[in-house]
Amino acid sequence: MSKILITSALPYVNGVPHLGHMVGCLLPSDVYARFMRMMGHEVLYICGTDEHGTPSEVGALQEGMDVYDYCTKYHERHRQTYSDFHIGLDYMGRTSSEQNKELTYRIFSSLDKNGYITEKVIKQVYSITDERFLPDRYIIGTCPHCGYDKARGDQCEKCTKVLDPTDLINPRSAISGSTDIEVRETKHLYINLPKLETKLAEWIKTKEPFWPELAYSIAQKWLKEGLQERGITRDLKWGFPVNKPGYEDKVFYVWFDAPIGYIGISKQWSDEKPSERNWEDWWLGGKDVKYVQFMGKDNVPYHSITFPATLLGTGENWTFVDYLKSMSYLTFEGGKFSKSEKRGIFAEDAVKEAPADYWRYWLMSNAPESSDSSFTFELFAGAVNKDLNGVLGNFASRVLKMTASKIGEAVPAFGKLEAIDEKLIADLQEKVENYLKYMNEMEFRKALSELRAIWVDGNNYISATEPWTVIKENQERANTILNLCINLIRIYAILSYPIMPKVSEEMLSKFGLSVSDMPSLNGFKVSEEIRFFKDGHKFEVGDALFERITPEKLEEWKEKYGGAK
Ligand code: MF3
Ligand code: ZN
Repeated sequence: MSKILITSALPYVNGVPHLGHMVGCLLPSDVYARFMRMMGHEVLYICGTDEHGTPSEVGALQEGMDVYDYCTKYHERHRQTYSDFHIGLDYMGRTSSEQNKELTYRIFSSLDKNGYITEKVIKQVYSITDERFLPDRYIIGTCPHCGYDKARGDQCEKCTKVLDPTDLINPRSAISGSTDIEVRETKHLYINLPKLETKLAEWIKTKEPFWPELAYSIAQKWLKEGLQERGITRDLKWGFPVNKPGYEDKVFYVWFDAPIGYIGISKQWSDEKPSERNWEDWWLGGKDVKYVQFMGKDNVPYHSITFPATLLGTGENWTFVDYLKSMSYLTFEGGKFSKSEKRGIFAEDAVKEAPADYWRYWLMSNAPESSDSSFTFELFAGAVNKDLNGVLGNFASRVLKMTASKIGEAVPAFGKLEAIDEKLIADLQEKVENYLKYMNEMEFRKALSELRAIWVDGNNYISATEPWTVIKENQERANTILNLCINLIRIYAILSYPIMPKVSEEMLSKFGLSVSDMPSLNGFKVSEEIRFFKDGHKFEVGDALFERITPEKLEEWKEKYGGAK
């Protein structure tokens, strides 16, 4: 058993998550956390809302609310959405917490003491119309690298290059749209990344065989281009006031305190039950902790370069990321998710239209792992109708209904295994091993395609063995076939749990079992698990596991979420 620390990138509090956000970090991290627990590991799985920065200030202003109250309101909305999506976090915290403030101060002070903080007077964009300095992402203009004309001052969404607002061509205020902006002088603190470059490069080298190519190549590209000092303070009111004389009226930049939030949130978790939990076991000097981070690909530079450099600069023995799983983007019906064009479906609406597990299954089967992937309602309905209803659901209901009507609502006796049964067990064992291997490696698309193949094997087996015919002349053989099939339903429930926890629970409950009765997946033996139900174990046919998506529903969704055309 190892300790596995799992974090999902902290979503900005002011945005409501859509399906792309769900598959970008929360969902895969949840699937992985559930899986690792089933493998017998001790897991700490946390996330939280990323609350500082101008977007929150602007959002609060628009809603006429105090910024903290505004963040609380949206924090609750995120929390509800993730719970509806069955995201099983140990803790959902906030970057604005006292704990995070304490850690941000501690880390900043070490960096400063160790000589990694520099002071600069810089010229910054001030909007005369808005009467404020414009933070990086509130200046928009044309990207000097790729020519994208809506690039933000902190990063170009199109080419992922990190920018300085003064790099932008034709800059304007994103708050008012005003071009009545001027450059003023202001004093700020910087983290001296060039001074940390050697340490950082050495550290990254140790990660080479473990990081997925996408993350590793983004990090390498950054190092090759040479690191630059990065500003860590801002002229804003909302944020942690800088704990250094002369900077009291400034706050830390959101990208400085947000990743520290992983630690701060772990401390929030720990502070809730200090006698049982200790955040330091996970974050300080804990050499036995394996740390896996999940995020969208635009987050990679911050997690592979700036945050590790920040921790390295303190000289303390923090837990560094061991594996960085990053996702590309999910497109929606061939385009981008767009709030203003009403194109795309928010997670909170999705779970009202269909059970969360349907979305979880589709999103994980089609996760944008190596390249972007595209969501369409057509594909979604196809997967629900064919894979879930047609294969898994159909298998379970066929087996249970047939047994109930021909034999009774109890598992029939297991007799002698025939060659076809042995072959089924051997084939399944091989597929289960592949499934576990892919899940371990976080190759989710491959894992899900094995899982699907495992379900298909059951359907093929029952078609080939025809228990409904056999029962007419050989009751004992029919009993064995149905016994095997019923045991398969339980095996399917166990294997599907990380992906579809609620469906899994329903499957188990047909046999009076619950999730806590599931065996470890570590060393899972089909030949043993298939003998789990002895004859006479009662079951209930109950409701169908899935509901088909009708062509009418499909049209309705396309109309409702397909964009204001
Ligand atoms: N809020 C950022 C985003 O949604 C992610 C922050 S991740 C953290 O892109 F590490 F900084 F917390
Ligand atoms: Zn660009």
